[in-house]
Amino acid sequence: MLRLQKTALLVWLSLAGAAQAAEPVWISIGEQGYQQLKKINPAAQSRQSRLLAPDGALAKGGAGENVHLVQISESELPKLSDAIHENLRHCGGYIVHASRVEAEAALKGPAAPLAASVAPSYAIDNQATVKPLLPQLQDSNILGTIQSLSSYQNRFYTTRHGVDASNWIAGQWKQLAGNRADVAVEQFAHAAWPQKSVILTIKGKSNAAETVVLGGHLDSTVGSGTGEASRAPGADDDASGIASLTEVIRVLLASGYQPQRTLKFIAYAAEEVGLRGSSEIARRYKQQQVNVVGALQLDMTNYQGDAQDIFLFTDYTNAAQNAFLANLAKTYLPTLKVGYSQCGYACSDHASWHAQGYPASFPFESSFNNSNPNIHTARDTLASSGNQARHALKFSQLALAYAVELGSDGPAAKRLAQR
Ligand code: BES
Ligand code: ZN
Repeated sequence: MLRLQKTALLVWLSLAGAAQAAEPVWISIGEQGYQQLKKINPAAQSRQSRLLAPDGALAKGGAGENVHLVQISESELPKLSDAIHENLRHCGGYIVHASRVEAEAALKGPAAPLAASVAPSYAIDNQATVKPLLPQLQDSNILGTIQSLSSYQNRFYTTRHGVDASNWIAGQWKQLAGNRADVAVEQFAHAAWPQKSVILTIKGKSNAAETVVLGGHLDSTVGSGTGEASRAPGADDDASGIASLTEVIRVLLASGYQPQRTLKFIAYAAEEVGLRGSSEIARRYKQQQVNVVGALQLDMTNYQGDAQDIFLFTDYTNAAQNAFLANLAKTYLPTLKVGYSQCGYACSDHASWHAQGYPASFPFESSFNNSNPNIHTARDTLASSGNQARHALKFSQLALAYAVELGSDGPAAKRLAQR
């Protein structure tokens, strides 16, 4: 329902736990969420509203959405979350802002791209590299990673299990990195919570300043009451995405592939509480003027809800990069069927990159309406996805093709000279 903005602070969880001082707060909220709010508090009033039409929404026949600025009392936030969650199926339908000024900025849409950014070439010209790598991707490895991650009691961003799971991923990725000097694994610490994001970097050979990001979120949830003892396996949401990415890392590194651009694989902390981990990382990269030429999000890859195999989400994403992904699928995965869908709100970490003006895409397991009904419950287990990882394998294949085709381009001047 909302764009996650540079200045947005999604703090409803911490507010819910803090003293119920009934401080007034500014939120931005989509039309449907606003209607829920009116039911809870008929006196709540939209102070400003704007029709936001996310990238691609109009092209696909979508109408965009009215987003409102409302000032409400802190103490109403938990009730609002519950109402949105119960009645609109998904939460995350509003963003709390630090001030009215920040809230107003959020209504203006995504930040401008970096001045230095040039759209990358989406030519598909690395078949000799991609083709022999694809059959090396194994669903059995993906299955194993999902099994390991979903056997943590939960991976909530505040629990010790959530911290352990981040450390486990860092350990796995370090093993895959071995002792290559051009590969590094770091844990990105977040000031406001203990769970760290994990970043594996393969430094580009000739064009290291241009960066390609592939990510998924490592945390899991069963809602705002999630605690140490809660069971939140998150097998599909999003152990599957982390497992799909881990298999891409394994094959790329085992083959000795060296990219020209820098590749970054990121397991984001704290997605389930408002895209907080990815929001911090995307904001930091923008501040440091990191030239991210593309970001790919894998969140939920292992539950096939439709006849089509891969759905490209058209909102909060980049239309040109989405077309590139469709071409990659056509070229490298010709037996797969691609569909299109949308969340209708900033539903996963791709939206954090989009908000900073970076091209983002979100290939997803199904259409929005036919996605895994068990997420955010103790039933989000491997068994609920049929104890297989064949569906998640398709996303590893697409992600590997994306990483190599975008990762193999040298500096722009050279690219032009080669034409
Ligand atoms: N993986 C989900 C997003 C999702 C769910 C996409 C179903 C498509 C279909 C993600 O982890 C999530 O739960 N997002 C929240 C919003 C976020 C801002 C907290 C959601 O959708 O409620
Ligand atoms: Zn989720």
